[in-house]
Amino acid sequence: MANNHNGFFISFEGIDGAGKSTHIDAFGDLMKKRHPNKKIVMTREPGGTPLGENLRKLLLDTPMHIETEALLMFAARREHLALIIEPALNEGHIVISDRFTDASFAYQGGGRGLSLAKLSILEQWVQARNGVQLLQPDLTFLFDLPGSVAEDRRSKVRTPDKFEQMNLDFFERVRQEYLRRAKQEPERFFKIDATKTPEDIWGVLSSVKVGVSDQS
Ligand code: TYD
Repeated sequence: MANNHNGFFISFEGIDGAGKSTHIDAFGDLMKKRHPNKKIVMTREPGGTPLGENLRKLLLDTPMHIETEALLMFAARREHLALIIEPALNEGHIVISDRFTDASFAYQGGGRGLSLAKLSILEQWVQARNGVQLLQPDLTFLFDLPGSVAEDRRSKVRTPDKFEQMNLDFFERVRQEYLRRAKQEPERFFKIDATKTPEDIWGVLSSVKVGVSDQS
């Protein structure tokens, strides 16, 4: 179903260490160059609002029950949609978010084993418009790579947060849930082989035809 706004919503997804953060700002700059009349809103989840950034700190540092974790992810998302994403899309802007709901299905569902049915209820609650239509990204870049390659990359560059401390099996389950969703919605997902070099990945990313309308 077509979204009832003039904006364009893009999300970047993938397991920790897949390299999405290396490219997201450059991709925002590219969109600005291609669509000089559009405003580009760069944001992230969990986070994107003052409350969301506070919740992010808790979510990335504090151990908690898996359902509490899922509820807080969606609470942050509700605020993010209300304050940032929906107003921007209604104004016709391009929104680029570092993660969105696919991450909840992949991490809380695939990784932690929370029921996908429960996550769907939260998704429906937080993202449904007019009672039926779900507000989803128009395009999702999925940076895909084996958990072992991502683990190797992570170990070289950063101190792990709560999620990054999880073991290889966890990340393999996260990856499989991302892939399952990508298969379910092939028209929304664009899968990127994240084992490639940053140059090759940028070559692919920068050549993707993004269906942004220049009308506002
Ligand atoms: P990430 O986006 O990888 O940021 P950074 O590059 O700064 O580490 O970190 C966010 C973490 O939150 C990541 O491990 C995935 C996790 N996450 C979930 O578990 N569920 C969600 O719904 C979202 C949005 C993120």
